Amino acid sequence: MEQEKPTIEGPDPATTLAQAAGLAEHLQRIGVQWLPTADAQSAQALATQFHVADEVAPPPQVENTAPSQASPPASAPADVASPTATPAIATPPAAAPSPPTAAPAFAFALQSDTAAASEPYAGPPLAADARAVQLAAFAETVAACTRCEILSKCRTKTVFGEGNVTPRIVFFGEGPGREEDLSGRPFVGKAGQLLTKMIQACKFAREDVYIMNTVKCRPPNNRNPEPTEIENCREYFQAQFQILRPEYIVCLGLVSAQALLQTKLSVGRLRGKFHSYFDSKVLVTYHPSYLLRNPAAKKAAWEDLQLMLRDAGLM
Ligand code: URA
Repeated sequence: MEQEKPTIEGPDPATTLAQAAGLAEHLQRIGVQWLPTADAQSAQALATQFHVADEVAPPPQVENTAPSQASPPASAPADVASPTATPAIATPPAAAPSPPTAAPAFAFALQSDTAAASEPYAGPPLAADARAVQLAAFAETVAACTRCEILSKCRTKTVFGEGNVTPRIVFFGEGPGREEDLSGRPFVGKAGQLLTKMIQACKFAREDVYIMNTVKCRPPNNRNPEPTEIENCREYFQAQFQILRPEYIVCLGLVSAQALLQTKLSVGRLRGKFHSYFDSKVLVTYHPSYLLRNPAAKKAAWEDLQLMLRDAGLM
């Protein structure tokens, strides 16, 4: 009597290829330069993604399930700030920043972000040790910065940023508060404790992600940074992103979102979908300080993070 063959369930080839492409993208972003030996089809997909095999056939098209930048989510979140009437955009930074007075000593050519939405970051990604060296050198440049007369006189320490130098996610805040100014570390005060909880809710530790701010010096009395102060720091955060090139940037609050995306739209308009900064996906959500004052908004912030986690295949 013929025995029935057991069927072995496995992931379908399209899923495998999508996962291989995702892995390749991550490895490429963090500067890994090798190809694993896998089955021929997956290796071809990886090779194509790494641009090392010009002759290989492109991998089969895998449907992109990421939320489209153009299409808003089914239930658009309510606007929380005064709406500016223009339609929601997910477009490149538009206006060229005014050139800073003193050029920093970058070890690399800074890539302009004036027409950059969804273009890849320029050049090959650096390996982790090279990133750490560049960021450390760069933090020293920032520590000596005197572009903003007021901020450079008021600060105790500059707050450059910290964390994993090959992160999937960068959390991008506004600027240092009192505790950060004293310690030189981002998000260590009350808002920082909430941010740490948000990171942990995503099943990450602080050390797994990178945390940085739009401006690197504390504005006096925790006022919002002035537009000129943001422009003075633009070159610094741009260079950090160029080195880190994360898959996701989470803008915490209005200041960082408007600075990065060069928009005047409110957080309410910007949240709930992905925007682009080069080929990083940008998510906008509420600042932890806002959430401390308005706990009811925590639900919406968690929905924002879940959008990213689903897109990243993490839930
Ligand atoms: N708020 C921020 O935006 N950044 C910090 O580092 C701390 C508080």
